[in-house]
Amino acid sequence: MQRKILVTSALPYANGSIHLGHLVEYIQTDIWVRFQKMRGHECHYVCADDAHGTPIMLRAQNQGITPEELIAGVKQEHEADFAEFNIAFDNFHSTHSPENEALASQVYLANREAGHITTRTISQAYDPEKEMFLPDRFIRGECPKCHAQDQYGDNCEACGATYDPTDLINPVSAVSGATPITKDSEHHFFKLGDFEESLKTWTRGGHLQSEVSHKLDEWFESGLRDWDISRDAPYFGFEIPDAPNKFFYVWLDAPIGYLASFKNYCDRTGVDFDEFMKPDSTAEMIHFIGKDIIYFHALFWPAMLQGAGFRLPNSIFAHGFLTVDGKKMSKSRGTFIKARTYLDHLNPEYLRYYYAAKLGSGIDDIDLNLEDFQSRINSDLVGKLVNIASRCAGYISKKCDGKLSATLADSALFEEFTSQADTIAEKMENREFGHAMRDIMALADKANQYIDDMKPWALAKEEGKQQEVNAIYSMGINLFRVLATYLKPVLPKTVEQAEAFLNIEPLTWADIATPLLGHEINKFKPLMTRIEADKIEAIQDASKETLKAEQAVAVKQEVTSDIEPIAPEISFDDFSKIDLRIAKIANAEHVEGAKKLLKLTLDIGNGKMQVFAGIKSAYNPEDLVGKLTVMVANLAPRKMKFGLSEGMVLAAGPGGKDLFILNPDDGAQPGMRVK
Ligand code: 2FM
Ligand code: ZN
Repeated sequence: MQRKILVTSALPYANGSIHLGHLVEYIQTDIWVRFQKMRGHECHYVCADDAHGTPIMLRAQNQGITPEELIAGVKQEHEADFAEFNIAFDNFHSTHSPENEALASQVYLANREAGHITTRTISQAYDPEKEMFLPDRFIRGECPKCHAQDQYGDNCEACGATYDPTDLINPVSAVSGATPITKDSEHHFFKLGDFEESLKTWTRGGHLQSEVSHKLDEWFESGLRDWDISRDAPYFGFEIPDAPNKFFYVWLDAPIGYLASFKNYCDRTGVDFDEFMKPDSTAEMIHFIGKDIIYFHALFWPAMLQGAGFRLPNSIFAHGFLTVDGKKMSKSRGTFIKARTYLDHLNPEYLRYYYAAKLGSGIDDIDLNLEDFQSRINSDLVGKLVNIASRCAGYISKKCDGKLSATLADSALFEEFTSQADTIAEKMENREFGHAMRDIMALADKANQYIDDMKPWALAKEEGKQQEVNAIYSMGINLFRVLATYLKPVLPKTVEQAEAFLNIEPLTWADIATPLLGHEINKFKPLMTRIEADKIEAIQDASKETLKAEQAVAVKQEVTSDIEPIAPEISFDDFSKIDLRIAKIANAEHVEGAKKLLKLTLDIGNGKMQVFAGIKSAYNPEDLVGKLTVMVANLAPRKMKFGLSEGMVLAAGPGGKDLFILNPDDGAQPGMRVK
């Protein structure tokens, strides 16, 4: 029976680039959707940019542009990245859209009508200079527990403590540097507790992975609290009906953005929105998400939908996070890899296959081990899969005018390949992609083994064996065709090229068992090349470079969680006392007994100065010699344990490996004043 399925992936925030961590989800969903379409189902895959909220508003302000301009630019970038990774959304929209405004109001008003909204006054941190309430992430201060400096308003990265922003010692606003005050304001709340019973039934009703429903049981035990869905102006979002200057919190309208994107698509294509969304709809609605946003999708979202009289999701499929080389993605290690950086160097299909090979139906994290990635692609895709076609095609083209044999040389083997269609389909359906890839590669091994055993190249040297040789090679091509069908959801572009080579209509699951007999194929062109190690190094190097460039900009523009607050204002007179000079690092050496310091000899044109700089964690002394940097030349000399320090070099970054001395342009000369 043909199924009707609406599928979504979580909406990426419209203030940052897509990276390889995001792509786990988009690739997982895209493979699943392509599989459903190949099976002949009506499947619609929609997504959108998540465009609202304080970080986006502030970022736009810092860039001197409107939020609308910011999100339009990011949307273009996201769409280009997704398209090149062959993520085939049927629609990619924005939460800042008329459809979303209308649907958010509709959902809110229906819930209000049914008594699920309440209001009450709460006290919150407020930036008196910027005249705005501060989200916890925008307040920094000293941890009340371990006294680490410069911690977020809700938790300490040093000791892991969680607390209220009011507990922070010496809090400052990360937006303006002002000391926050506490201010009252009326907020709107969604009464999640009203839905407790139906949510308990729904979350235990087979819509969630078992490990997820267990997690939810813990949440039920700790009680469902009212959810604060409003934010005060200034805020980039939708104003709440009948509540001037109050806006929907970004997480209220984000999931509604799934429906808005679908609505926009339905209006464009004639698909019936109401048929999909009515409470008793037989169409399916399925959300792919990361495990960090389960609370929103498995509690708030079904409750909001129910309160608004819409259908509930059939399934929420959560996945784990991505680690690279076994660790959290890291900017300084060059493993925080943006989609674009990857695309600059490697074929996106490699990553699609690697993720598929690693993905299962659970919520475990998956690891991109860069060495394993390289060897797996080279061995599975190039060495096994593509090899079958490339070793069989030459003879058929050259000696048989491209015409495949009229009979199958080994129909039992062909049957062995096609008879796995149902089990592989079941694994794909259940998101057990890793198991499916293993089955497919075991078949690829068999296909190569068959050719090895038959030795058609030896037979070809004998007289009158052309038909037999053609039959063996044609058998190889037919086995390749079956494998290409199985892999089509994972490798859409490669298989498209394979279809062109085989000179056939797009492969479908239903046609798998029909071999190509007496059929003319085209000349074979290499479908993929090996990954060389230098490509992976280039990606890592480029990722480190992007980080440096971003940090340089960040110092000036960025007001996000990982940037230090601006220090208190100084006068121009104060500033003009500082003598900043270009300095050439004439010598750099380790300091006996010092953990953090390097001893630098700095040439400032008219003499040399000695400075002890705390940059050992980021630089080897030999890499510094000959570099230009910027120094404070008139700092009073300080007597240190290791000797006299006569100035200070300027560096950017939070510390550790992420510390960058400023490198002025090559045109700069030692001694030049920096103004
Ligand atoms: O966590 C995130 O990146 C959110 N932008 C996901 C939103 S998904 C949905 F609810 F819109
Ligand atoms: Zn702490």
